[in-house]
Amino acid sequence: MDAEATPLLPILAREIRADGPIGLDRYMALCLGHPLHGYYATRDPFGRGGDFVTAPEISQMFGELIGAWAAALLPMMSAVAPGQWPCLVELGPGRGTLMADALRALRAAGATFDLHLVETSPVLRRIQAERLAGAAPAFHDSVASLPDAPLLVIANEFFDALPARQFVRTDRGWCERRVGLTAEGDALAFGLDPEPDPHLTAQAPEGAVLTLPSQGLSIMRDLGRRLVAKGGAVLVIDYGGDRPGFGDTFQAVTGHRFADPLSRPGEADLTLHVDFGALARAARAEGMAAHGPVTQRDFLLALGLAARAERLKAHATPDQARAIEAAALRLTDPDPRGMGALFKVLCASHPALSPLPALPPPA
Ligand SMILES: C[S@@+](CC[C@H](N)C(=O)[O-])C[C@H]1O[C@@H](n2cnc3c(N)ncnc32)[C@H](O)[C@@H]1O
Repeated sequence: MDAEATPLLPILAREIRADGPIGLDRYMALCLGHPLHGYYATRDPFGRGGDFVTAPEISQMFGELIGAWAAALLPMMSAVAPGQWPCLVELGPGRGTLMADALRALRAAGATFDLHLVETSPVLRRIQAERLAGAAPAFHDSVASLPDAPLLVIANEFFDALPARQFVRTDRGWCERRVGLTAEGDALAFGLDPEPDPHLTAQAPEGAVLTLPSQGLSIMRDLGRRLVAKGGAVLVIDYGGDRPGFGDTFQAVTGHRFADPLSRPGEADLTLHVDFGALARAARAEGMAAHGPVTQRDFLLALGLAARAERLKAHATPDQARAIEAAALRLTDPDPRGMGALFKVLCASHPALSPLPALPPPA
């Protein structure tokens, strides 16, 4: 596959020549997170002029409803960990839109907490710091430095951007998928490890692809240990399914269109569908309770999206009212490829936090 000569290409090529083809996790980590030439290090990718639109950028209702959900949970957390000051945490806050909208709902409910943001992009950190200045957020490079306190963690479209490994079923077994160079050495190409991984034994037809969300699972395990010890919950909203498939969901998006994931390293967004079943199992293994996943549609409707839209429309011009209605429909679109169905919501919580608003009891 031809790769455009982006600034990251020679860096990748040097590493591949020195160490051999790299795993998909390393490729994603460099393309998204390289400090100088990584996708998130260099741009604000949101909105019409950007590469994609996320739910909070579609309507203020999304963040407001999550804020109302968080406001209901904070007193439940205080009952589990009395006298402990809670922290509200967002992982990958983008432009800070979700949190800005959520803070309005949280303030209206009189909630008190410290705000912590986990963000690696310096460009987006600047936008978040400005947007959320009133809440004086503390910034973190990873969950490892979050305070030892009850945590209420929100993650919208965060886990899909985390580096993962992939394996392809061959007649020899599961071989790791790697990114190397073409014979000419001037472009990137997918290849496979010659030797299969001895630990993978799942049965699947030849050509099947197994995704191992290594970084997502390690973040869930880390949060699980903290939340079981100190109380709290993590709310994950993302696209994906609750059963692992053997399909390849690795994709690149640029300018609102799908692209070849190897063609513009560092200049396209790279994602994988989130394996909610694997996240729930990792949470349970640490002693947490897993609520859901449910569809985004069911979650938002249970939180009162329709009533919120009606209240906003009551003070809107006819054009604004049509936009509010269109946004509510888009966020809850039940078409299998629509946001309401494709996006799922999972909450992993301290087992004493139950029942949770808008979510089923733990399975
Ligand atoms: C797809 S955006 C979602 C933004 C926001 N949550 C929203 O819904 O609009 C992914 C966010 O995660 C951040 N991010 C990506 N990888 C990260 C990592 N490994 N650690 C921390 N933040 C990361 C990005 O910079 C960006 O803010």
